[in-house]
Amino acid sequence: MKLFLDSADLDEIRTAVRWGVVDGVTTNPSLYARVGGSYDDVLREICRLTSGPVSAEVVADDVDGMLDEGRHFAKLAPNIVVKVAMSENGLEAISRFAEEGIRTNCTLIFSANQGLLAAKAGASLLSPFVGRLDDINEEGMNVIRELADIVNLHELDSEVLAASIRHPRHVTDAALAGAHVATLPFKVLRQMIHHPLTDSGIAQFKADWAQARAEAAAKG
Ligand code: E4P
Repeated sequence: MKLFLDSADLDEIRTAVRWGVVDGVTTNPSLYARVGGSYDDVLREICRLTSGPVSAEVVADDVDGMLDEGRHFAKLAPNIVVKVAMSENGLEAISRFAEEGIRTNCTLIFSANQGLLAAKAGASLLSPFVGRLDDINEEGMNVIRELADIVNLHELDSEVLAASIRHPRHVTDAALAGAHVATLPFKVLRQMIHHPLTDSGIAQFKADWAQARAEAAAKG
């Protein structure tokens, strides 16, 4: 199970990389809008911080526009993966990128069939959005489970990336459902580290240690 950071914030990415748990990074236009500046510069820096796949999303609607943007991103660093939204033009662009040897992440997947089509077109990463399905009273994790089963059963050359993760339980469930990757907001990654019993246990050990040292010092 690989864990990607779902962020364009360089400070967050630096911190999580130091923790040794980051296998890659996903960005999207909304995440980029939060940090601003030059998208190219942000992507270059992220690719310097991690050698894992870094997803850069195209915003064009037409195939030629998607190809232009994606080829541009692919030249920024060898670990760039071009992110393309599921659509008729998106599938065509994904298949053209595959012919050119450019890896793609098909995003905005909300059904196993969409994921199957993206895999057939040649996407190396398939990104079903769990949280956004939960938001509309559907069971987002079902798409992860079905798509992971399809990929494994038919030995497709793609990985299922659980996206739109909202809380730590999503990560556990995605891992159990067979997702190859989950991409997490920094907040969720940090929440996974902590447990009230771990934090209180550390405080108790420190207090007991300090008391024992103080008693030993008092005895001389
Ligand atoms: C990542 O690739 C997706 O763009 C991201 O996980 C979407 O998350 P959201 O639904 O919380 O915006």
